[in-house]
Amino acid sequence: MDDGYLLFRSRTFIVILLTCVGTFCYINIYGIVTKSLKLPQPKVNEHSKKTNLNNVLIQTDGCRIPYMDTFDPSIRQYIRAPEKIVCNNNTPPLMEANITYVYVLNSSLKAYKVKDFKTLKCCYSPFHRVEPTSDENDNKVFYGTCVQFNGSAKIDDEFIRVSCTYEEKEIYKDFFSFVPIKSRIKNFSSGQSSIKKHNVVVIGLDSISRLNLHRQMPITVKTLKDMGAIELLGYNKVGDNTFSNLIPVLTGLSEDELIKYCWRNDTDKFDECNFVWKNYSQLGYATSFSEDSAWMGLFNYAKRGFKQQPTDYYWGTFNYISEHEIGNNHYINVDQCLGSRATYQEFLEYTMKFVQTMTQEQIPYFGFFWGCTLSHDDLNKPKLGDESYANFFNNLIDSHILNNTVLIFMSDHGLRYGDIRETYQGLIEERLPFLFMVLPKNYRYLYPEAFANIKRNIKSLTTPLDLHETLKDLVDPFSLKRTLISKRISNRKGNERSYSLFEPIPSNRTCETAGISAHHCTCQTSTTAINKSDSVVINAANFTVNYLNNQLHDHEGCVKLTLAEIYRAWIHSGSNDVKNGIHNDDYTIMFRTVPGNGKFEAKIRQYIHPQRQESRFDVIGTVSRFNLYKSQSWCMTNYHLKLYCYCL
Ligand SMILES: *[C@@H]1O[C@H](CO)[C@@H](O)[C@H](O)[C@H]1NC(C)=O
Ligand SMILES: *[C@@H]1O[C@H](CO)[C@@H](O)[C@H](O)[C@H]1NC(C)=O
Ligand SMILES: *[C@@H]1O[C@H](CO)[C@@H](O)[C@H](O)[C@H]1NC(C)=O
Ligand SMILES: *[C@@H]1O[C@H](CO)[C@@H](O)[C@H](O)[C@H]1NC(C)=O
Ligand SMILES: *[C@@H]1O[C@H](CO)[C@@H](O)[C@H](O)[C@H]1NC(C)=O
Ligand SMILES: *[C@@H]1O[C@H](CO)[C@@H](O)[C@H](O)[C@H]1NC(C)=O
Ligand SMILES: *[C@@H]1O[C@H](CO)[C@@H](O)[C@H](O)[C@H]1NC(C)=O
Ligand SMILES: *[C@@H]1O[C@H](CO)[C@@H](O)[C@H](O)[C@H]1NC(C)=O
Ligand SMILES: *[C@@H]1O[C@H](CO)[C@@H](O)[C@H](O)[C@H]1NC(C)=O
Ligand SMILES: *[C@@H]1O[C@H](CO)[C@@H](O)[C@H](O)[C@H]1NC(C)=O
Repeated sequence: MDDGYLLFRSRTFIVILLTCVGTFCYINIYGIVTKSLKLPQPKVNEHSKKTNLNNVLIQTDGCRIPYMDTFDPSIRQYIRAPEKIVCNNNTPPLMEANITYVYVLNSSLKAYKVKDFKTLKCCYSPFHRVEPTSDENDNKVFYGTCVQFNGSAKIDDEFIRVSCTYEEKEIYKDFFSFVPIKSRIKNFSSGQSSIKKHNVVVIGLDSISRLNLHRQMPITVKTLKDMGAIELLGYNKVGDNTFSNLIPVLTGLSEDELIKYCWRNDTDKFDECNFVWKNYSQLGYATSFSEDSAWMGLFNYAKRGFKQQPTDYYWGTFNYISEHEIGNNHYINVDQCLGSRATYQEFLEYTMKFVQTMTQEQIPYFGFFWGCTLSHDDLNKPKLGDESYANFFNNLIDSHILNNTVLIFMSDHGLRYGDIRETYQGLIEERLPFLFMVLPKNYRYLYPEAFANIKRNIKSLTTPLDLHETLKDLVDPFSLKRTLISKRISNRKGNERSYSLFEPIPSNRTCETAGISAHHCTCQTSTTAINKSDSVVINAANFTVNYLNNQLHDHEGCVKLTLAEIYRAWIHSGSNDVKNGIHNDDYTIMFRTVPGNGKFEAKIRQYIHPQRQESRFDVIGTVSRFNLYKSQSWCMTNYHLKLYCYCL
């Protein structure tokens, strides 16, 4: 990083401090009253010049989130045109599928050197998920016999593998997914009362901050805005990774609570946990939990998945198998293609097939579709999907699907790895994923109070746990009637950890009351860049490295880490524990350790006892890693410690 860059950053942070002095100095992120401090303070970066800028994104009694520019100069250098996705070296697919058929593309015969169509032999094998035993991974399937067909075939199965031979050689292999109506739902809908239900569809894109969505997918954002989408500005993540941010959405529990209540350890299956789709399922909704890049899926990465299939539709099984067989164009963590098709497009098409089929059959549904392939590892790749996603959303409107469907488009966190993470804006963005919600037009009239509340909550501090409460409300949208909402509010204490977005979120909510650790909290009153050579910074970084080594202590394969370099440091001051005279400051420090060159970012709290002339450190929350560990931690099975372990 050049000096000009450093200089710029420092200036920005002074700015935030000044705003704080002017308006907000008496509340810090923990909501504790601050007193003026007499203790020796680390020196603010001497090169920094003071300017003033008082823009805020969120300002409530309990939380102030600074405004950041989508194209701030500090991050512009990381925004570049993404490389196009090339599948199967541009060989076209030989087969295509629509909603019910699979068929040969005559135009592709040449590419496969098929001169005599009559002697091309193709067959398809249906396959389905098989329940794993308790110590098996959840990726088993069973293949039926291969059914021969000429040119095209009508498919009644959910998943098929296609194989074609020509002149005695297999020249083609492909996989297709369909949406047949499952018997459980058929039985349900035949015995159903005519209660009107509203569908819920969640479309997820992994690792995209709110600002990066605006940068990379402007057409999609505009489409959503034109649809009247509500965009949450203060949606703050609660944990480090996908798992720790989606588990709260799906279960209303933190990761620790999940472990306490229904998932003992990494080798346990998830069947006992109360996922919100069970509530929908009980009422006769068809359910889908579907994901791409399923090898690192929510329930499967360093975990064992489910015994019983958790939802009626579970596309991850299909993705896992097809990716294993025909995945290609591997990039960092993901196969970008399934055969000749970009995976993200294939997944969007499947999603559309699901939604259209359910609409056509008038079956209510809860669908959760989590896409990773397009966005997991690269700040700029999402741009490639902008038009496809915009078209997808436009198709939902054109086919009137949104008349009675709630659409949620969201991410779990911003980009966790990569060079943008070395900037302060990158750090903050990582904690603020995007979340859009489109409600059926008639909600405004049917549930005016709920609608007004969600509008107001756009500018509140909100979390994945709130989204869970919201999904529970949507199981029965009639619970959003004015009387029911008012009744609920009157029973509230005002400091609950989670609220439905259809309720008013109290203005005095803080990260602490919302269950967000200080490490992940973006509410802040004061952030000031400090000299990385300051002794307090060095001591704090050293403390953190020792802390990591202690965590790895019981794992013999991991090499002891040593502090190699400190990149940057910031101080967020500070509060006094008036009762005990203890003063504390928080530091954000970015540093590198060896061996392995792991790059880490930690929030460290320093407690200072002025009378006793002593201080101690504490690591707040988890330590984030902002470069990839790749195969360095092959010997570590615990996915938390994988971030830190450098294997012998
Ligand atoms: C940081 O402190 C060191 C030593 O105290 C000094 O040499 C250096 O110029 C300082 N750097 C900045 C950016 O202020
Ligand atoms: C799907 O493809 C088959 C075979 O080409 C065709 O007969 C059928 O009409 C198509 N269906 C739709 C809905 O396009
Ligand atoms: C593809 O070519 C075969 C043989 O030439 C022909 O029978 C078939 O109808 C063609 N299919 C389409 C969709 O054009
Ligand atoms: C495919 O075509 C061959 C030769 O024309 C015929 O013998 C066979 O019965 C056909 N198979 C199917 C499934 O239609
Ligand atoms: C659906 O109903 C049929 C006929 O009553 C029954 O055989 C089948 O087991 C039921 N399926 C499920 C999943 O309940
Ligand atoms: C995980 O929990 C199961 C069931 O309680 C236990 O049998 C197993 O030993 C545990 N595994 C680990 C690695 O702790
Ligand atoms: C959802 O289902 C769980 C059990 O899986 C139950 O405890 C909870 O009360 C249900 N919530 C709603 C809103 O129906
Ligand atoms: C959806 O709303 C549009 C416009 O109000 C209406 O024309 C259409 O019939 C509705 N479609 C469904 C499936 O309800
Ligand atoms: C927020 O205000 C409510 C009353 O409106 C109060 O009961 C609650 O304790 C306050 N919470 C905090 C964290 O101050
Ligand atoms: C870092 O901590 C280790 C272990 O406590 C200690 O030996 C070493 O002197 C410390 N280094 C610095 C630069 O403080």
